[in-house]
Amino acid sequence: MWNFIVWKQLFLYNCIIISASSVSAKRDLSIFFEHVSPRFHIVGGTPSDPGSAPYMVALSLGGTVKSFFCGGSLITTETVLTAGHCVEAVHFGGRLIPSLHGTVGTNHWMRGGVTFGFRGNVTHPQYSHDEIKNDLGMLLAAAPIHLTNLIQPVPLSYDLIGENVPVKATGWGKTRANSSPHSEVLIDLYTSTIQSSTCVLDVQKTAMDLGIYAPPVDPAHEICTFHSPGHGMCNGDSGSALLRRDSLQQVGIVSWGFPCAIGAPDMYTRVSAYRDFIEDGKKLPSHFFIRNLQKQQNKNTQNPDNIFYVP
Ligand SMILES: *[C@@H]1O[C@H](CO)[C@@H](O)[C@H](O)[C@H]1NC(C)=O
Repeated sequence: MWNFIVWKQLFLYNCIIISASSVSAKRDLSIFFEHVSPRFHIVGGTPSDPGSAPYMVALSLGGTVKSFFCGGSLITTETVLTAGHCVEAVHFGGRLIPSLHGTVGTNHWMRGGVTFGFRGNVTHPQYSHDEIKNDLGMLLAAAPIHLTNLIQPVPLSYDLIGENVPVKATGWGKTRANSSPHSEVLIDLYTSTIQSSTCVLDVQKTAMDLGIYAPPVDPAHEICTFHSPGHGMCNGDSGSALLRRDSLQQVGIVSWGFPCAIGAPDMYTRVSAYRDFIEDGKKLPSHFFIRNLQKQQNKNTQNPDNIFYVP
């Protein structure tokens, strides 16, 4: 049970609602944190050029005082793609927390850009919290977002991505494992995909060395990247986009790993494994629209004055 609690808090790259045992969990891994230099970002990345990630959405809770918790990517004017565990974290009592907002069009999650609300979500039906599998979902913006040169959806690639492919991860996650605030400015990490079999073994070995349980890596549904110790994803990067550097198409969603940048691979949901789910989700806004229209029309059928308007 102890390990079970520990890995859940440590693995998912978001920062939601840390419970009482997080203090012990931190102490458990603190020897690794000391090797991480404080000057590193994402961990080990560099600030994104303004406007270079016009698809990046900062997800936050709260009103005047916003608290950042995950990243996401704009894939249509109304749809934000993110990790399933990011959606789960803000979904209570059958609905999204009302103070959930997205901010797009700025490299600073706390200021600038456009902030908008959400009217619903779709989470992958086979999303597994315990094994962190099928870790993706979509948030539906309350209204279409006006596109500008600083606000643009990201194209997705459904081609299977292999090993040694240059990729770029972009996020507002912590720049050090045990630093408290998230990065105020968006950070890029230029990294590469690694061989699946190496990833499976490295993750097993790291978990064993740390004496904690890690879920098995599923290469058909997850992409692994590795740069070097001191360069990797950290808490708050969950849900953020991983892009191929050649085509600038999104291929992955930050999912889990060993916080932070301790020299083990980082795991991403493999976008190409979820083509149908994502493409169906992208059509949701119009489905909602059609359904509402039909409701409207059904109402009209009950009103004799309007009956001729029904096809
Ligand atoms: C919305 O998210 C919650 C939490 O992940 C999930 O239980 C629910 O099924 C999602 N709704 C849809 C329509 O997928």
